[in-house]
Amino acid sequence: MLSKKIEDILNKQIEKEGYSSNLYLAMASWAENEGFKGIADWLYAQSEEERMHMLKFIAYVNERDGKAKIPAFEKPSFKLKNAKDLFEAVLKHEHYITASINEIMALTMQEKDFSSYNWIQWFVNEQIEEEANVKTILDKLRLVGENNLYMFDRDIMSLRTPASNPPVA
Ligand code: FEO
Repeated sequence: MLSKKIEDILNKQIEKEGYSSNLYLAMASWAENEGFKGIADWLYAQSEEERMHMLKFIAYVNERDGKAKIPAFEKPSFKLKNAKDLFEAVLKHEHYITASINEIMALTMQEKDFSSYNWIQWFVNEQIEEEANVKTILDKLRLVGENNLYMFDRDIMSLRTPASNPPVA
């Protein structure tokens, strides 16, 4: 049984993961319109991963006798000039999500909810990996430069690590 505080913070995270999925979907569409097919594919795949994260939070809340709430999502908004802007915006968003996962972890300790503490560990590790992946992409972008994106766009999907699954509750 989840405490009210844990149920509430997990429900907030459902909203954040769903927003992340829509944000990357909107960015994928932007990239597609800019002619970046590879970057668009990377973002569509990332959007799917975020949706999977959202579904895992929903399943966990319901399995622990809480009530998962499906919220309305804010319309994603961003201003991008180029691929570097895009991945800097992705990294900034992932920093925000990492901070949010850390807050959940801190609350599980405070509430002595050790099941949730164990469960959220997967997301702590996932955030390390997601941030590292985007940093690698930004490093590569710096190397090739904005005027030489053909091969970068062609090869970006090879920089993806396969999605892993969080533990079931
Ligand atoms: Fe679900 Fe990219 O954090």
